[in-house]
Amino acid sequence: MGKIGIFFGPEKGSVGKIANLIVEKLGTIKADLHLVKDCDASIIDKYDKVILGISTIGTTNWDSEHTDTDWDVFQTHLKEVKWENKTVAIYGLGDQINYPEHFVDAIGWLYEKLNPLKANIVGFCNKDGYNFNESEAIVDGKFAGLPLDEDNESEKTEERLTAWLSELIENYNF
Ligand SMILES: Cc1cc2nc3c(=O)[nH]c(=O)nc-3n(C[C@H](O)[C@H](O)[C@H](O)COP(=O)(O)O)c2cc1C
Repeated sequence: MGKIGIFFGPEKGSVGKIANLIVEKLGTIKADLHLVKDCDASIIDKYDKVILGISTIGTTNWDSEHTDTDWDVFQTHLKEVKWENKTVAIYGLGDQINYPEHFVDAIGWLYEKLNPLKANIVGFCNKDGYNFNESEAIVDGKFAGLPLDEDNESEKTEERLTAWLSELIENYNF
């Protein structure tokens, strides 16, 4: 079985903290960490199981308002990757209290980019237990990835992350 590639950004905040936690749980034999800002398509193509970590920074139009994030560079490489044979799981950091109309929108932004490229996107999560009004991350009634809120519910992160990773391991052979 090939290794899992974890691609994340930015490095220093909550997204980076969770990326390190994931590799701690999966083990370095099983997973590699990559900063999205240092990656191109050839690196992603080495993996058939991929975890992507992103945060939502922006209240109205995340995509166009922030042209200086790690992900803005990385997204230019997305179309060059052979996603058809990859199983992809997304985790996203957000803040339900201060941004209840845009909770973890970036998960949805990423899903919209990868779905047309035929990636097999897994690890959807129920809305139960979250407090928000709107989210672009909702696809067919579920989050298209794992939402985490380190700003308000850091005590729930461990349980949410463990359950999500267990599902990826059991159902999708991560
Ligand atoms: C300027 C700014 C805008 C934000 N906009 C959103 C948002 O629209 N939706 C959301 O869920 N969280 C939003 N957040 C919260 C961040 O996503 C959250 O703090 C996250 O943990 C940041 O992770 P990072 O430090 O790894 O980037 C915003 C935070 C900042 C500072």
